[in-house]
Amino acid sequence: MTSNLGWWTDAVVYQIYPRSFCDGNGDGVGDVPGMVSKLDYLAELGVDAVWVSPWYPSPMADGGYDVSDYCNIHPDFGTLADADAFIAGAHARGIKVLIDLVPNHTSSAHPWFAAALMSAPGSPERARYHFRDGLGPDGSLPPTNWGSLFGGPAWTRITETDGRPGQWYLHMFDTTQPDVNWTNPDVNDMFDDVLRFWFDRGIDGFRIDVADSLHKDMAFPDTALAPNGFGTCMPSNGHPMWDQPALADVQRRWRAIADSYGDRVFVSEANCPGRLAFLTPDRLHTTFTFDSVFCEWDATSQRHMIDHNLRLHDDIGAGTTWVMGNHDQTRPVTRYGKRITGWPFPESGVTPESQKVWAEYLFPWPTDVETGRRRARAIVLLYLALPGGMYIYQGEELGLDESENLPIASLQDPSFFKTNGRTRGRDGCRVPLPWSGQVAPFGFSPRPDAEPWLPQPAAWASLTAEAEEPDPNSTLNLYREALRLRRETDALGAGSLSWSDAGDGVLAFTRDPGFGCLTTFGGPTTLPDGADVLLASQPVAADGTVPAETTVWYRLP
Ligand code: GLC
Repeated sequence: MTSNLGWWTDAVVYQIYPRSFCDGNGDGVGDVPGMVSKLDYLAELGVDAVWVSPWYPSPMADGGYDVSDYCNIHPDFGTLADADAFIAGAHARGIKVLIDLVPNHTSSAHPWFAAALMSAPGSPERARYHFRDGLGPDGSLPPTNWGSLFGGPAWTRITETDGRPGQWYLHMFDTTQPDVNWTNPDVNDMFDDVLRFWFDRGIDGFRIDVADSLHKDMAFPDTALAPNGFGTCMPSNGHPMWDQPALADVQRRWRAIADSYGDRVFVSEANCPGRLAFLTPDRLHTTFTFDSVFCEWDATSQRHMIDHNLRLHDDIGAGTTWVMGNHDQTRPVTRYGKRITGWPFPESGVTPESQKVWAEYLFPWPTDVETGRRRARAIVLLYLALPGGMYIYQGEELGLDESENLPIASLQDPSFFKTNGRTRGRDGCRVPLPWSGQVAPFGFSPRPDAEPWLPQPAAWASLTAEAEEPDPNSTLNLYREALRLRRETDALGAGSLSWSDAGDGVLAFTRDPGFGCLTTFGGPTTLPDGADVLLASQPVAADGTVPAETTVWYRLP
């Protein structure tokens, strides 16, 4: 393969978070049979592919991103036969299947880590991870000052088999997620086998978790101090945890395997400044554009963000992807309903200014859900009209909001515990989907008395797939219609756009042949003469007046 362009370049990919999508067996936890039962729903929605968040055996300390066996299915989710049925069922409906690869760390319940704990310092078993002696006369200080992305230190001290305090191991995330050592051939070989195992089962690609880390600077230098008292851990240029030169070798190795299967794709989850350098024809195909998650509700900011990312991708001959949310982010309806609608992602260290905004963002500003939903509907039509692919996180198509007030006792995200509750964590976007009925579990489970693993808000009664189905103005039908038009309209998908001057607070562009898209971020405006409305996120008046906070797709005369 000599290009990074392919079926994925303008694909609409739907993210399934298996635990929260659909429960087939009535235990309150989503599973693969539940996913199979919703394949017709996905086909009707009109997505090109699904990405399944980790479905592997896992103690679930980080919602499955702590994998204890990469070549099996979590018993709560089903069996390999269920996974085969899901892959076959998706393919029968023309839907491709991507799954998650978690290569930066295993679970501490992985047999390799158990073996490392039972083995001596310096043993081959320990060499698969980053074990180091501690500093200080008794080794009681961590080897570096590095902080974990979930809060607290990135090193944990173990007790050796003889009962004495022992070495320390590195974990960028939870203590239950030890980082593997990518300079070790065992690690490289194991992940080669994992890729082949799933490619052989027919999957079409992988979403690569924390794709910008893996290799660490083996000199283990301390990093600048962050306000929480630990060394910085967020991706930045030159940071010892991120984007090390040897990462390119891993990506090339994987790409050779993927290419040997044909039309397979890698999408990288990466936030490091150099993430676009991954997208060469011998490395990775595509990467999430998280700028679109973090970009505020503002015409100028959105225009800048869109242009910037289109240009960067054009320069390297890869396709852009647009993202509104995922299992780690506040749901867009809630984000756009806040006083601050953007997320100031600190790319190069944490400046006092970004800290201030960050604190304001985390402060529980009230949410105007109605405003947020109106804006989220406008944004999805805007992004779906742009050149590139689109990722939809389950429930966005129903217009679900974040559950901001989950009972503390129900919270499971390790970042809640590791920050001593300073942040509530990511559970609020992971609440099980509402499918039908008037009361919880809203058809998520087949048993009406089943308790979903996170409680669903009563207000979701009006946001079930069943409730939205007959309503032509529902968010579900907006998505269905948008995806149908996207498939049928030559101008949409890959290609280019031309911006039009539509005045302050309005973004408008055209795409050949004969397609226009206009978004009002501020007050109302009027459609160009002769514009024939194809779809709008809010009703357009008969005289062509587009209301505030609305996107319209139209055919040009
Ligand atoms: C990625 C995942 C996130 C997980 C982390 C550690 O960012 O999206 O859910 O906690 O990696 O694996």
